[in-house]
Amino acid sequence: MRHRLTEILPRRAVLLLSGGALIAATLPAGVPRAQPLIGNTANPAPPAGGVPIGIIGSGNIGGTFGTLWAKAGHPVLFSSRHPETLKALVESAGPLARAGTPAEAAAFGQALLVAVPYAALPGIGRELGPALSGKVVLDACNAVAARDGDIAATAKEKGIGLLSAELLPGAHVVRAFNTMGYRVFQAQAHRAGDKLAVPIAGDDPAALQVASVLVRDAGFEPVVTGGLATASQFAQDAPGYGQQVTARELRGRLGLPEQ
Ligand SMILES: NC(=O)c1ccc[n+]([C@@H]2O[C@H](COP(=O)([O-])OP(=O)(O)OC[C@H]3O[C@@H](n4cnc5c(N)ncnc54)[C@H](OP(=O)(O)O)[C@@H]3O)[C@@H](O)[C@H]2O)c1
Repeated sequence: MRHRLTEILPRRAVLLLSGGALIAATLPAGVPRAQPLIGNTANPAPPAGGVPIGIIGSGNIGGTFGTLWAKAGHPVLFSSRHPETLKALVESAGPLARAGTPAEAAAFGQALLVAVPYAALPGIGRELGPALSGKVVLDACNAVAARDGDIAATAKEKGIGLLSAELLPGAHVVRAFNTMGYRVFQAQAHRAGDKLAVPIAGDDPAALQVASVLVRDAGFEPVVTGGLATASQFAQDAPGYGQQVTARELRGRLGLPEQ
């Protein structure tokens, strides 16, 4: 079930799309926010309802979350450099899913999920940067030396969240969905009882709000660790990585205040 973005957005007016309707919602005064968020007046509501989501990298992780969101009622554009290969994925994700190129996904999505090898991020920033600017970009990419080369060391030194934001300038980057294998996500989505926690981190409060809704709509419970610098707390080898626990337990393990 989609969650209403208005439940979590107090003051400063933005128009947000939820449940197929434009809803006036607001943000706290003084919260910095560039560019349109979801369905604002300069960016009219999409016809199908939900938040249009572009998936860049429709492999294990992109395929998993795009399918969960399409089944939760969001229009999803899966992308590939070879979109003709996505037929089976699109069919299994249902009527709200379609396929296109990465550029089409970047233009379509008011929120995007980027799930590619980390070494591909600089090129995505160069090629799609202007289209991603001002949008919520959920970044699930892990930097693995064996696959991604030297950029893995840079990510560790600089902090992976801060590096992602540098590589995707202008985008409202939120680190998310990087801590568990896709099979775990598939098996645990919408589980009964307390949901599985997904740690997220981002510098833009409004983007974090949107990301939290999308985490819930995928069937998990978001745990905001803080700004992008705190994404290092749940990078590979960090204490928040691979924790298949509830939100309450994850907050305890990371020393975050209870809610
Ligand atoms: N697998 C997991 O369980 C898991 C869990 C957490 C995080 N992650 C992280 O999530 C990311 C994706 O992992 P995955 O397992 O989903 O990978 P995957 O199944 O190999 O899918 C990655 C997709 O990225 C696309 N891609 C590769 N290079 C690209 C480029 N230069 N430009 C645009 N698209 C490119 C490919 O799409 P096309 O070739 O079709 O264009 C491919 O389908 C990685 O950073 C990984 O570390 C994975």
